[in-house]
Amino acid sequence: MATPASVLPVEQFISEVDALLVRARAAFDSAHTNEDLESARIEFLGAKNGLLKGVQKQLGLLAVANKPAGGQNLNRAKAGIQAAFDEAQNRLAGDSGRGKRDPQFDPTLPGTPVRLGRLHPITQTIEELSDIMGRLGFTPAHGPEIEDEFHNFQALNIPEIHPARDPLDNFYLQVAGRQASGPRVLLRSQTSTVQIRVMENTPPPIRIISLGRVYRPDTADTTHYPMFHQMEGLLVDRHVSMAHLKTVLQLFASSYLGKSVPVRIRPSFFPFTEPSVEADYFWNDKWVEFGGAGMVDPSVFSAVGYDPEQWSGFAFGLGVERLCMIRHGITDIRDLFTNDVRFLRQF
Ligand code: PHE
Repeated sequence: MATPASVLPVEQFISEVDALLVRARAAFDSAHTNEDLESARIEFLGAKNGLLKGVQKQLGLLAVANKPAGGQNLNRAKAGIQAAFDEAQNRLAGDSGRGKRDPQFDPTLPGTPVRLGRLHPITQTIEELSDIMGRLGFTPAHGPEIEDEFHNFQALNIPEIHPARDPLDNFYLQVAGRQASGPRVLLRSQTSTVQIRVMENTPPPIRIISLGRVYRPDTADTTHYPMFHQMEGLLVDRHVSMAHLKTVLQLFASSYLGKSVPVRIRPSFFPFTEPSVEADYFWNDKWVEFGGAGMVDPSVFSAVGYDPEQWSGFAFGLGVERLCMIRHGITDIRDLFTNDVRFLRQF
């Protein structure tokens, strides 16, 4: 039986519906402004002349038997178009959930400035130091800030009777349930503890740095603070000499300060190095001290089970604050830890 001219084939209707959905989606997805979206909305969803309305009118041209199928397809497309519109509207409104739905919102007003945070100058210095040392082949190692006396003193050749263990010079901690006569714990007073922890767990050769906080009960003034940071370095290998130590310090200082600077070492004493030195670099017409160093004492090797006849090494401990202050012209260490954003914002 021939189809009357006024009857629209259902396949044609469905393909028109599908094409409309595709077009509407593309239009809503590509709307960049509320104006774009509004004109797309009028084009597709407009109550009077919207394209969806137009297709809906054609539903009447389907054969009666095809109307349910046509209607179903139309509803599916309608829902899809509405969803694409809602999605575009949310996208343009942004995360604040504001936008054209909020009549109070005036998009022409200047926005609230967002303050960007930044890394603390000490953190920046630490990152730079580990970068420089990384290029010299030193990998970062870490240790706990709460230490036992073995790692902070004994294994570093600082015996029981040594004045460095004085309670007035250290933050010993009271730990609940621990016997008064038992081994004590303290906030580490130096990062040399990490030398021991690394050597206990790793066979030589070793080439590490350790950057972290240390604690000493000093009264705060322009150059002292009860907490500060050190960079410990440790290199253990065969036939290591003082010349290697001095070269590493020299390369380090020149990289950090950005130009070749002279480095000198002066005799000093630390229980865990022999010989021991104090190292200075020459900067702005004067010698500036940057830390202690020396050749690892054989008794430290024995404490961690290395054979001192076979292995030799050097260690150094530099003050991070001092390096940070000299770079930025900071004259009071306390400024670094008062956390006044007006100060911190400068770095
Ligand atoms: N630990 C020493 C200090 O805090 C510095 C140091 C480290 C000295 C390594 C020699 C070797 O003063």
